Amino acid sequence: MEKRNELYSGKVKTIYATDDKKKVIMHFRDDATAFDGVKHEKLQRKGMVNNHFNAFIMEKLAAAGVGNHFEKVLNDNDSLVKHLDMLPLECIVRNIAAGSLCRRYGIKEGLELNPPLYELCYKSDELHDPFINECHARAFDWASDEELVVMQQQSIAVNNVLKPLFLEAGMLLVDYKLEFGRFGGEILLGDEFTPDGCRVWDAETREILDKDRFRKDMGDVVESYEIIAKRLGVGI
Ligand code: C5P
Repeated sequence: MEKRNELYSGKVKTIYATDDKKKVIMHFRDDATAFDGVKHEKLQRKGMVNNHFNAFIMEKLAAAGVGNHFEKVLNDNDSLVKHLDMLPLECIVRNIAAGSLCRRYGIKEGLELNPPLYELCYKSDELHDPFINECHARAFDWASDEELVVMQQQSIAVNNVLKPLFLEAGMLLVDYKLEFGRFGGEILLGDEFTPDGCRVWDAETREILDKDRFRKDMGDVVESYEIIAKRLGVGI
């Protein structure tokens, strides 16, 4: 597999073309960002930890029947993935109230959401990823009815796999964000699943182990990502 030109550079990952048009290389950098890129730091080892973390989760999901773009790890910071045509949407699943949900509705942090709450946002740093519903997505041609149904079903299927996986390892999967893309006639889960895009609390103490540590200047960000990884059995 030959690594070719850079196709896209996001806030924490860079995507490179390969000699196969249907595959790209996803490179995890050591960047950490929050508040739509306003806060930005380099954190040593973060790229490596997130690359292996993402591979572990994507393989668990694929094994449980949740199709996704992941193919294989190439080295500590690179993974080979299918080249998706990404939809400009963020699918959020919440098991416990936290973050923007609490700010938006005045809900107390920690409220259990059963069944889990599913939300859609429009992916735009400039607009601060505004909360939308399916009608907006259809009206602005961001996704078809069928695609919206698949994304919601797959987002909940992810929860059915990961919520128990985290709980068995002594952690609560509070919420997470997913992104999907088109591949042939299919909608597949793309992007990443790492502690950058989910909230994870210790099940006993409710200690924060995810990117909120970076957002809130709590320190030990990568160390906490490694704690989650080790508890889940990710080989780092
Ligand atoms: O900020 P909010 O509470 O809406 O975030 C819900 C979940 O989605 C959190 O786990 C957060 O890390 C993730 N998220 C993300 N990228 C965004 C927005 C939210 O990874 N742009």
